[in-house]
Amino acid sequence: MKNILITNIAAHLGEEITLRGWVRTIRHSGKLLFIVLRDGSGEIQCVAFKPELGEEKFETAKRLTLESSVIISGTAKPHQKKEGQFELAISSVSPIQISEEYPIGKKEHGPDFLLSNRHLWIRSSKQWAVLRIRHAVYYAICDWLNQNHFVRFDSPILTPNACEGTTTLFELDYFDEGKAYLSQSGQLYLETGIMSLGRVYDFGPVFRAERSKTRKHLTEFWMMDAEAAFVEHEENMRIQEELIRHVIRTVLRDCDTELTVLERDKEALKAADAPFRIMTHRETIEYLRAQGSEIPHGSDLGAADEVLLTKDSPVPVFIEKWPKEIKAFYMKRDPQDPNLVLGSDLIAPEGFGEIIGGSQREDDHDLLLERMQAENMPIEQYQWFLDLRKYGSVPHSGFGVGLERLVTWMSGIHHIRETIPFPRMIYRIYP
Ligand code: 4AD
Ligand code: MG
Repeated sequence: MKNILITNIAAHLGEEITLRGWVRTIRHSGKLLFIVLRDGSGEIQCVAFKPELGEEKFETAKRLTLESSVIISGTAKPHQKKEGQFELAISSVSPIQISEEYPIGKKEHGPDFLLSNRHLWIRSSKQWAVLRIRHAVYYAICDWLNQNHFVRFDSPILTPNACEGTTTLFELDYFDEGKAYLSQSGQLYLETGIMSLGRVYDFGPVFRAERSKTRKHLTEFWMMDAEAAFVEHEENMRIQEELIRHVIRTVLRDCDTELTVLERDKEALKAADAPFRIMTHRETIEYLRAQGSEIPHGSDLGAADEVLLTKDSPVPVFIEKWPKEIKAFYMKRDPQDPNLVLGSDLIAPEGFGEIIGGSQREDDHDLLLERMQAENMPIEQYQWFLDLRKYGSVPHSGFGVGLERLVTWMSGIHHIRETIPFPRMIYRIYP
């Protein structure tokens, strides 16, 4: 008998097939027994009728408990009640391992319990759905970049310097070389890559010793940094918009089941696939203040301000042209106003907050050096970065997408901790 994955069942209607997986639910009454089997690719209801299956096999099936691993054979057919779904008429059941009493699912659990049991929690249907959306988002990003001439350029995780300021650095001793740090973003290394490959990206874990205990912060998360030579600020935003709209369309196309499991408002996602809005930082502050926020001029947005900003916007909003004091040293000065930089943050709708940070980079050696000195940075550690401005410097831009922020938005879930298999937060390192 053929082993098949549940997701492929439609191609095997009427055939005797074998499924291998875990018991999601089991119930029996009298002569009937129903098992919902899941195998990672999907779920299916399997039905046994005692007079047909026989006493002995029926009793074997009844011994199965939640999460028992099992091999079930039978005939695939359309579901009796649910259009478009299938079920399996069981002809044999072979338990692989009868699960001990499963700790999750009997009652409502608090987040601490679930996080301590993350190794089991990932099996539940919502977690399954989020992790599959993460997979889809990851590959949608890579596909778009590959199709648009970006070359993958892996940046190091152990670094001698900081990319995003020193307040959130994880530090470690590196043999006889002194201190090393876990990377906060591969950006600075990507800037070297464009001088060889033109357009590059990396995609991997980055680290921030965030003291913040919010629903949007992890200490280890995945970032896709992209960088492109000869791209300036406006085009940088257009690239981001195209990329994100491609991700939205891919998720809507490929993750319908997952979005349904999560009860995600699909219309809201569809509505976000339209031209994004662009506001300057100054306009943003004025808008927020007019809406009742007390945010001072010249400051960064808090979580509540991000929610307020997109309250009436179905599409993401770029905030561009930030005061230079609150942005990183590498951002290029706005030629129209030296107090501003050509940076942009992309804020997702529905209150999901910042998903991308990007900017045109300072490409003038002396201006960059001046800015680094003003911030008391250890210049000798960044000599290689300054070199790029000596040997064929070109205008260039890039941005970093926070994978888990994007997945949180696509999934429509409340907390970022569910978007990565094993979340790392200030108070959590187990399991
Ligand atoms: O805005 P950020 O700090 O930008 C950079 O690191 C740039 N060097 C990227 C670049 O230009 N190549 O971080 C980028 C994105 C944020 O917009 C957010 O989506 C995500 O990374 N992010 C976090 N996600 C989860 N937990 C955290 N603690 C995050 N910090 C940033
Ligand atoms: Mg940012």
